[in-house]
Amino acid sequence: MGRSLLLPLLSLLCLSFLKGARPATFMVTNSCGYTVWPGILSNAGVAPPSTTGFMLSPGESRAVAVADGWSGRMWGRTLCEQGSSGAGFACTTGDCGTGTVECSGRGAAPPATLAEFTLASVGGDDFYDVSLVDGFNVPVLVAPANGSCPTTDCPADMNAQCPPELRVVVAGAAVACRSACEAFGTEAYCCSGAHGTPATCAPTAYSRLFKAACPRAYSYAYDDATSTFTCAGGSAGYGVVFCPAGGSSGNQASPPTSAAYPPMVFSSGGADPATITLLPLLMAIFQVMSMQ
Ligand SMILES: *[C@@H]1O[C@H](CO)[C@@H](O)[C@H](O)[C@H]1NC(C)=O
Repeated sequence: MGRSLLLPLLSLLCLSFLKGARPATFMVTNSCGYTVWPGILSNAGVAPPSTTGFMLSPGESRAVAVADGWSGRMWGRTLCEQGSSGAGFACTTGDCGTGTVECSGRGAAPPATLAEFTLASVGGDDFYDVSLVDGFNVPVLVAPANGSCPTTDCPADMNAQCPPELRVVVAGAAVACRSACEAFGTEAYCCSGAHGTPATCAPTAYSRLFKAACPRAYSYAYDDATSTFTCAGGSAGYGVVFCPAGGSSGNQASPPTSAAYPPMVFSSGGADPATITLLPLLMAIFQVMSMQ
């Protein structure tokens, strides 16, 4: 390879390390009084993290690193069980249908509360939201590690407040709350067909119920104005907390305060270790080449 080709190639390599080498860390915490099995689905064409599903006992946390510019969603699965004699792993709510704890590229069966992320490369803006468009199963909080950026959440227990016609009841207990779209399938509830634009899909009595309980969460498909959050300049990580208000159901009369959230530790600060290790090497190569 000639020197004329090598130099641009090497600068490209160098640039890519300097520009896009910061992964984000999700600190996923279960503050519910019951076990939650988080699931993670990456968007198409996005590299998935090393785990796409795992178990969190009450009070337990787990850090999950995602690649720079990651986008996708997280949710909690509840009432999961490893079936006996060959029957696979399955969850009563939020199941991803793989028959294993890992979700491996499959999403949540509704109803499930979703935490959605579109993370930028270093310096760009992150977007995130909590969505009840696919219904509700577990209260969720999303807290950027960058303290200047807003948190969003659905801290209320919508299972307790769910209208009977939307309620999912298992063994006498309300375990999830369906969206009106899933329950009735009409275009007006689903924002489809004649109601397929923001101008023709208005809030309904059902979406207003969700909005009243969780004002920062998406209550229907075109609820963007009050439900999408931006972290300008990005965040090195995000806390995702199930049942931020604590308790066995997550149901608390008062909204959660920051004191209620467990302390989050992020390994952000400074350059990426890979950049630090590789930079002297790359500079040495440049030096040798410029001497030729
Ligand atoms: C944190 O967020 C603020 C406000 O959006 C932004 O100006 C800043 O660049 C962010 N900091 C980092 C380290 O990303």
